[in-house]
Amino acid sequence: MNVWSQNGWVRILTDARDLSGFSRTSFAQNHERSFSKNANPLYNLHVLITSPETIQEVLVSAVRAIGARNGYASARLEAEILLAHTLNISRALLLARLGDAIADKDAAQFAGMVARRAQGEPLAYIVGHQEFYGLDFYVDRRVLIPRHETEHVVESALLAIKKIPHPEPIIVDVGTGSGAIALALARNTSRTKIIATDISPDALAVAQLNAARLHLAERVEFCNADLLDGIATPIDILTANLPYIPLERVERLPREIRHYEPRLALVAGLDGLSVIRRLLKQAEAHMARAGFIFMEISEEQGAAARDLVNVLLPRARVEIHRDLEGLDRVVEIEFGRG
Ligand SMILES: C[S@@+](CC[C@H](N)C(=O)[O-])C[C@H]1O[C@@H](n2cnc3c(N)ncnc32)[C@H](O)[C@@H]1O
Repeated sequence: MNVWSQNGWVRILTDARDLSGFSRTSFAQNHERSFSKNANPLYNLHVLITSPETIQEVLVSAVRAIGARNGYASARLEAEILLAHTLNISRALLLARLGDAIADKDAAQFAGMVARRAQGEPLAYIVGHQEFYGLDFYVDRRVLIPRHETEHVVESALLAIKKIPHPEPIIVDVGTGSGAIALALARNTSRTKIIATDISPDALAVAQLNAARLHLAERVEFCNADLLDGIATPIDILTANLPYIPLERVERLPREIRHYEPRLALVAGLDGLSVIRRLLKQAEAHMARAGFIFMEISEEQGAAARDLVNVLLPRARVEIHRDLEGLDRVVEIEFGRG
């Protein structure tokens, strides 16, 4: 990463791997003259590396570096998470050890992570994991970071499974990404057959890794497919959190999302509904007679999504669920009852 200092553009080591092989002092010697005190928020990183003493001191430096770029609202929490991750201890233990000295190599590794965060990289990509529905998912830039609001899709599907008239419901999760929805459903059901699809082989590789990590590999079949292409089974429950951001809105997305999360996971044509529209066109031919679809949408798409279902699936019942903030969030479509 190049950053501006009063002496011109200089390269900062942004990654723990970049920093390996550098002792604290060699890094300092190499970069000493490139920094000017107070000229750049990343000066604090310099302090972090050249003179770290206690955990509390490096945290204070990290909060300044993160807060100056991203705002201070969650800077302290993020600094603590990154340092706990570096030291491989819990946050609670970290807070109990604020007065302890920090080793040079840990300080250097931490500084690399803080620099990445200060540049806007999401915390989950830096630490390499994200909690979703009580499970710990590995994530990297090949997949969207699973969001809390998507848990509503899981909740709704779990309730609907009880209404399926036969004992082994077939569930298909379309656009599985990290595998969040499919694996949460696998963990919370026993007699289901679950298929997870994604058009991105990279995303599927992460989903499969998560299935193995969570000991659920036997429970989920993964398919590289465009929506339901090649999925022949009559589906009882279809879940989908597909891309739904309108093209013109991309430039207004926060830097964290726009620069780091996969475009394929975010954008869906001019109105944000192009991928969902294609899925709905395919759906009837693939759904069981009394099946359900649960699809995440953005908060302003409720009315448009309802209209779309009424036009494309006139015999189905449609309902828009709101999330805990009262915003339109999940489209429920029930076949055989419309
Ligand atoms: C918004 S992300 C959601 C990932 C995951 N379901 C979650 O909730 O965290 C959308 C996913 O849909 C996939 N996708 C986009 N277009 C697709 C298509 N035509 N067919 C299948 N998957 C698609 C993307 O690769 C991405 O992994």
